[in-house]
Amino acid sequence: MSHQLLKGKKGIIFGALDERSIAWKTALVAVAEGAEIVLTNAPIALRMGKINDLAKLCNATVIAADATSTADLENLMQKSMEVLGGKVDFILHSIGMSPNVRKNIEYTNTNYENFLKTLDISALSLHRVLQAAMKADAINEWGSVVALSYIAAQRTFPGYNDMADAKALLEGIARSFGFHYGLAKKVRVNTISQSPTVTTAGSGVAGFDVFYSYAEKMSPLGNASADDCANYCVMMFSDFTRMVTMQNLFHDGGFSTTGASKMVVEAMNQNLIEENK
Ligand SMILES: NC(=O)c1ccc[n+]([C@@H]2O[C@H](COP(=O)([O-])OP(=O)(O)OC[C@H]3O[C@@H](n4cnc5c(N)ncnc54)[C@H](O)[C@@H]3O)[C@@H](O)[C@H]2O)c1
Repeated sequence: MSHQLLKGKKGIIFGALDERSIAWKTALVAVAEGAEIVLTNAPIALRMGKINDLAKLCNATVIAADATSTADLENLMQKSMEVLGGKVDFILHSIGMSPNVRKNIEYTNTNYENFLKTLDISALSLHRVLQAAMKADAINEWGSVVALSYIAAQRTFPGYNDMADAKALLEGIARSFGFHYGLAKKVRVNTISQSPTVTTAGSGVAGFDVFYSYAEKMSPLGNASADDCANYCVMMFSDFTRMVTMQNLFHDGGFSTTGASKMVVEAMNQNLIEENK
């Protein structure tokens, strides 16, 4: 059911690759809530993914931009304002990629060229997006920028590899740039720290399936779905959260503040019984 939470608002959504993408679901909810949007992704993702199907559903224009290219992002800001007929009110940064994760290179044996790419694509890109938006004065006052993070930014989850460091930097950039953008233009910047979610990026992490089920058992509400994440992003774009900025907001069914759960303890007991047979 639509509440028209984003009626009259315009936005840019990065990162919709296919129907499972968090950005895909967020685009659909944003439009259902009354927003007009521009969709963007890296040129290769435009060729390989299904973004044109989403664009039809959302009545949206697609503009290619590699989030590691300042020139692409500057072009994106200008073109988006042309297409939408003015400044935007929200931006979703839903971008992540680690060549080390893709190639199964262990954290302790990292390839530094890959590591730098991970940081550039998954974290510095948020700085680039914000800088390009600020230079073009592309975001209205009280606008909202949301980037997606993961709890490995703050606690160690070994399988997450160098993406953990990228997410720590991403959360830091949201705080640092959020201060400057808030002061200059009342633009707010936050990260949402999402549960493990079955998507192309999520499933690429080593041991994802086991970890997904562990998090599900640990979280009193269970894992937060991509659909729920989309709703939360839209709430963060709305005027109902206008004084929230520079935060990392956990959207994880309670995982981040749970020490132990009955379901995990029971699963461990079961293992002990089987080991002692
Ligand atoms: N899936 C999970 O378990 C999970 C959990 C917490 C946070 N997140 C984060 O959510 C965000 C969205 O990921 P997702 O799970 O929807 O997966 P996804 O694979 O659908 O989305 C990742 C997107 O990043 C884009 N991208 C990669 N390199 C890019 C570049 N150079 N320029 C522009 N775009 C680029 C990809 O094309 C893709 O659309 C990511 O930041 C991810 O780290 C995911």
